[in-house]
Order: sequence, then C-alpha cells, then structure tokens
Amino acid sequence: MSKKYINAYIEDSVGVVQLNRPDVLNALNRQMVDEIVETLEMYDRDEKVKVIVVKGNQKVFAAGADIEEMMNESPLSLELADPFAVWDRIQLINKPILASVNGFALGGGFELVLHCDMIIAGEEAKFGFPEVKLGVMPGAGGTQLLTKAIGSRRALEWIWLGESMTAKQANEMGIVNRVIAPELVEEETMRVAHQLTKQAPISLRLIKESVKAAEDLPLIEGMKLERKNFYLTFDSQDQTEGMKAFAEKRPPHFKGV
Ligand code: HXC
Repeated sequence: MSKKYINAYIEDSVGVVQLNRPDVLNALNRQMVDEIVETLEMYDRDEKVKVIVVKGNQKVFAAGADIEEMMNESPLSLELADPFAVWDRIQLINKPILASVNGFALGGGFELVLHCDMIIAGEEAKFGFPEVKLGVMPGAGGTQLLTKAIGSRRALEWIWLGESMTAKQANEMGIVNRVIAPELVEEETMRVAHQLTKQAPISLRLIKESVKAAEDLPLIEGMKLERKNFYLTFDSQDQTEGMKAFAEKRPPHFKGV
C-alpha cells in the first residue's frame, strides 16, 4: 500500500508499521500520524493480521512531533484542526501492539511508544518528554500514559525536567518490558510477536480489554468485566479446541473463532 511516511507490510500474521522519515529522525508530522493510525485500524480489521508491531530504524524510533510544522500554530488553528484527536483512536485497537525501539523516542515518539501494549528496547534507547524546553507540554497522551505507568510524582519529575531516561531506567520503572542489545531488538520483537500469533486471538483481545480496564475502572467493575469476558471465551471454537488439545496431550490449533 502506498504511504508517504511509513512502510507497512504483513509478515507471517504480523502487521508491521515502520516509521520512515529518517532525514528528520522520524519526526511525526500530521500526515505521518494519520498514516500510522489508519494502518493500525486496517490491521485491526484484517483477519490475516494477529499482532501489530510499530518500529523505527536501527538509529531512531522518533524524535517527537515535527517542530517545524508546529511552530506557527495558534490556539485557534489547533482547536479547529484538532490534530492530536487522531491519537485517541490508537486506544481503540483490539489487537496486541508491540513497540520495537532503538535510539530516541522523544515527545510524540515516546507517546506513540506508550500507546503500545508491550515495549522491547535496545540498550541505547532513550525515552523522554523534552516539550517543556520548547515552552509547551505533551499533547498526545503523554501526561496520562506516563502517570498511569509510573505514578504522578515520578511522571512530574520526568516531564518537568524534560530529561531523557535510559532503557534500563525505563525498564526498572516498568515502562519497558525487555532491554536487549540494539542489533537484536527487531528480531526479539518479531519473536515475541510470532509467539503471540500462536495464542487464541479472542483470548488476546479480551485479555487486552480487561487489563486496560484495570487502569480505569473501580476494582469491582473490573472484576465484573473480566468475568463476562471469561464467560464469552466459552462461545469460541478456540475454547473447545484449547481444552480438547489439553486432554489429548497435543498443541492446540487456534482459528480466532
Ligand atoms: C522536526 C526534527 C526533530 C523534530 C530532529 N529533527 N527532531 N525536525 N521535528 N522533532 C531534525 C533536525 O532539525 C535535523 O534536521 C535532523 O532532524 C537531525 O537532527 P539533529 O538535531 O541534527 O540530530 P542530533 O544532533 O543527533 O540530535 C538528536 C535530538 C535532537 C537530541 C533528538 O534532534 C532533538 O532534540 N530533537 C527535538 C526533540 C524534541 O524536542 N522533541 C519533542 C517535539 S514536541 P536538519 O535539517 O538540520 O538536518 C512534541 C510534542 C508532541 O513531540 C505533541 C503530540 C504529538
């Protein structure tokens, strides 16, 4: 498919979105964000795709929103175009989204990473919100997602100071799932993605919905949602297959129905 600022391709049931604006360190302009979100939605609807991977290149994930594009905006031009509203749609994607990160993931780049479900990073990766140094602030979910991940005191420290955290620090705070040698990041991300493609898709989907609800719902409401979702899995052929395969001592073959 033809996209100007990303490469999009499907590899063994994994839908890949690769950011591709290397001359400006993958700075995210509006068209690029539109292309990313439209592709995520397309993969979410595509039966051939079971898991989604978002990645940059070996040197950089993304150095933030495109500062040149932003610098002449006014409150009214932003209000009327509402360019960040499109980011909300990432939260509605049902399939697992893995981020594969080498190099800088700053500002909007860090926000894109935080919208993903699992993050695999290279040892040299750097994450941060430098917006405060530009006289602005995160605007695509950064204050919300980082706070949910590490709590308000630590989030304020990082966003106020605008400093970058190392992959190791991000891992210790529970933001990043795995930190490995930079040259192995893509391979490891695809390995995890392929492992997920073998799981029952309906289980993955309902687990994602339930886990995300834990961040927003009171415990008792979250427990109710989890229970309903558990019951719903019993309407799937994959539940029958999973339990039958266990009884027959063989690996299950899930179909996503
Ligand atoms: C536009 C950018 C850019 C950006 C880098 N470039 N980041 N262009 N927007 N966010 C361009 C540079 O202008 C330069 O272009 C080229 O990419 C290479 O960058 P250098 O600065 O020369 O590279 P380096 O010295 O290695 O420094 C890397 C860096 C630095 C530390 C990441 O580029 C940097 O500080 N970038 C800005 C980071 C930032 O402030 N991000 C937050 C943006 S605001 P030329 O033409 O000179 O070669 C934001 C708000 C989010 O994200 C709101 C919601 C979406």
